[in-house]
Amino acid sequence: MEKILVLDFGGQYDQLIARRVRDMHVYAEIKAYNKITVDGIKTAGYSGIIFTGGPNSVYDEASPHFDPQILDIGIPVLGICYGDQLMAYMANGEVGSAEDNSEYGKTTVFTADVPLFKNIPRESICWMSHTDFIETLPHGFKCIAHTAKCPVAAMCDEKRRLYGVQFHPEVTHTEYGKQMLENFLFDICGCNGDWKMDDFIERSVEKYRAELAGKKVLLALSGGVDSSVAAVLMHRAVGNNLTCVFVDHGLLRKGEGDFVENTFGKNFGLNLVRVNAEERFLQKLAGVTEPERKRKIIGEEFIRVFEDEAKKLGKINVLVQGTIYPDVVESGKGDSAVIKSHHNVGGLPDVIAFDEIAEPLRELFKDEVREVGARLGIPHELVWRQPFPGPGLAVRIIGDITKEKLDILREADAIFREEIANAHLEKSANQYFAVLTDLRSVGVKGDARTYGYTVALRSVTTDDFMTAEWTRLPYEVLEWASGRITNEVSGITRVVYDITSKPPATVEWE
Ligand code: XMP
Repeated sequence: MEKILVLDFGGQYDQLIARRVRDMHVYAEIKAYNKITVDGIKTAGYSGIIFTGGPNSVYDEASPHFDPQILDIGIPVLGICYGDQLMAYMANGEVGSAEDNSEYGKTTVFTADVPLFKNIPRESICWMSHTDFIETLPHGFKCIAHTAKCPVAAMCDEKRRLYGVQFHPEVTHTEYGKQMLENFLFDICGCNGDWKMDDFIERSVEKYRAELAGKKVLLALSGGVDSSVAAVLMHRAVGNNLTCVFVDHGLLRKGEGDFVENTFGKNFGLNLVRVNAEERFLQKLAGVTEPERKRKIIGEEFIRVFEDEAKKLGKINVLVQGTIYPDVVESGKGDSAVIKSHHNVGGLPDVIAFDEIAEPLRELFKDEVREVGARLGIPHELVWRQPFPGPGLAVRIIGDITKEKLDILREADAIFREEIANAHLEKSANQYFAVLTDLRSVGVKGDARTYGYTVALRSVTTDDFMTAEWTRLPYEVLEWASGRITNEVSGITRVVYDITSKPPATVEWE
């Protein structure tokens, strides 16, 4: 099978690059620069190599470097940003650093007529993020693009099929980035583009069948798309050795616990254990208001509950989690900043009583996970469910969490979801829910004064949940939801709609 190696030098975009390549139906495999050798690359049979960006400067002693022999294997290489500079450095070019040359954001680039820039206008917009730049081209390379500030915005040694670009073709802000990657994959590397998501399923099933043979596997099933897809995928690989544990932590949406039990236990025939742990979680969370502490407590308690269940089930070797790529990035991968600790990544305690953790979806984006789910035969309404965070309503109640607040929020949230469904807006709004703010305000009901909570409604439209737009919901839908919530849910006097996109806000309020 043809495949591309994405050699990771610590940038933020390794998965995005791999994903772009997969979108073009070529399999992409990511390896950290220090986890593979030149010999390893030779024997793996890659059709091409992409060097990712990274936060370092090639001259820092501690910065990630690679064996320069990689440039002589005969496999085409595309270096991006730091990867471009590193390629120049390895081939004895010179990299300089000057504030005057730094560029950030959309930049006009002038490109030459070379295979990498086939079918691209000679002047276009690219996305830059750099201070270092290539000052002297390495021997055998020529300059194939420049910007106002960057004399070598791209270079190549056409004979050896080595290309480097200072900008980021993988981000959508680079107008013709997709075309450039296509040119690299199909024209320069000679790929055919016949890889499909089915191949990912097949490879994962084979891999886990071999690796986890004879082992007892426990999966944390939340009922969300990610863990559901992970469950069905793992079930294919290890069959009845898989037990799914569904922790009802009391922080779920209305009716969720029964839905999960019925869908997976009854319809899918998975070994499913439902643990009612509401009291345990509420005790741990009592009085806690700080969002990161809530997340850590819930993450840790999850694991403790699993451990307890595992003990009851006998020796369990492997814990499976439905972690997907955006969870990994936002919990602080490598040098990227921690935005919030997703309960199934940053919230993990250091010591847990399982030998291994398996995360079969760790490299996929949400829409890819859905595609895997559909191909696994999971029903449409489940695959297209809106996501629900592991810490549940705890991160949708601002301030401390009590059973009373949870019940109020559950009702308000159920009404909002019902109104979105009534208006057939489930597709345009990718995630929609209610948040119980910590703010109380005065209202009037009958002729009496009321003093109750303010509920915020949130709805976002997004592809990948890394960025999101607030949904332009029709006023009528908001009006109906607001009217019903204030009438049907006691304890709420006011409803507001959140009109913040991500960034600067996040989707969840905590
Ligand atoms: P944020 O709030 O980070 O949300 O913009 C992006 C997406 O991730 C979901 N989310 C989580 N999912 N565990 C999860 O499994 C978590 O701790 C978590 N926090 C946020 C959120 O609902 C949205 O879809």
